[in-house]
Amino acid sequence: MTALVHTRDELAAARAGMTGTVAVVMTMGALHEGHRALLRAAREQSDHVIATIFVNPLQFGPNEDFDRYPRTLDADLAICAEAGVDLVFAPDRAEMYPSGEPMVRVNPGPLGERLEGASRPGFFHGVLTVVLKLLQLTRADLTFFGEKDYQQLTLVRRMVRDFDVPVRVVGVPTVREPDGLALSSRNRYLAPAERQAALTLSAALRAGVEAAAEGRDPEAAGRALFESGTAKLDYFVLTAPDLGQAPAEGTGRLLVAAWVGSTRLIDNATVEIA
Ligand code: PAJ
Repeated sequence: MTALVHTRDELAAARAGMTGTVAVVMTMGALHEGHRALLRAAREQSDHVIATIFVNPLQFGPNEDFDRYPRTLDADLAICAEAGVDLVFAPDRAEMYPSGEPMVRVNPGPLGERLEGASRPGFFHGVLTVVLKLLQLTRADLTFFGEKDYQQLTLVRRMVRDFDVPVRVVGVPTVREPDGLALSSRNRYLAPAERQAALTLSAALRAGVEAAAEGRDPEAAGRALFESGTAKLDYFVLTAPDLGQAPAEGTGRLLVAAWVGSTRLIDNATVEIA
């Protein structure tokens, strides 16, 4: 049975009744197979699973899609029930931010200013602030994050280490459509022609991985795919797995962001540099 609560008091009461290990999976709802993979991993690795559903206003810029972000609570609850989630915490804005905008926010440091942070100022301040709040409110032992949002996963790991948060962060591989498109709640914005153009991101990652294996420049190989077509490249970069400087050989990470119409999409892949 999946219980639904909306307030921090109800959450605390339900949490107090949980024995053994507790996992939290944080989401903004509009759940899909990617979220389901996180819930499944959490179910397998812990005694209790809490899912949170909250479209966090703090991580949306003034011209971003906060208002039109899909809100599908009933369908989300059905997915949570099917995945064996014990408790769903779906607070409203006033419950999460009772004094309005929080005065103190987590500063993600220089990594928070690059890549997604460069295009979306304040984004990771908003993400890390709500993640820290939800870790405190749930007092979870484990938390599961998708590799799909690789910079987010990396920064959450970093915050947990830097702030001594008593939680284990588990990364879950990206779930994709059969044609390679990484699942995202924002995919539902895509018109059919845009859905086709969105494949450029995963195709560019594959081109980059292949180039690296052959000793060619993965960034050049990936960027080339954006020269024609309608997907508009923001960045396609090779970094170290911790998002530091790209290694000359060994394992790296390729990260891509692009606009397809008015929808911003991101993806990433591990890469071996020959
Ligand atoms: P949201 O975009 O709903 O994603 C919730 C979690 O699902 C994140 O950890 C994300 O990486 C993971 N996820 C999304 N698509 C995935 C896919 N295709 N494969 C694997 N995992 C996937 O990320 C957020 O919400 C928010 O920033 C949040 C952490 C909840 C803070 O507000």
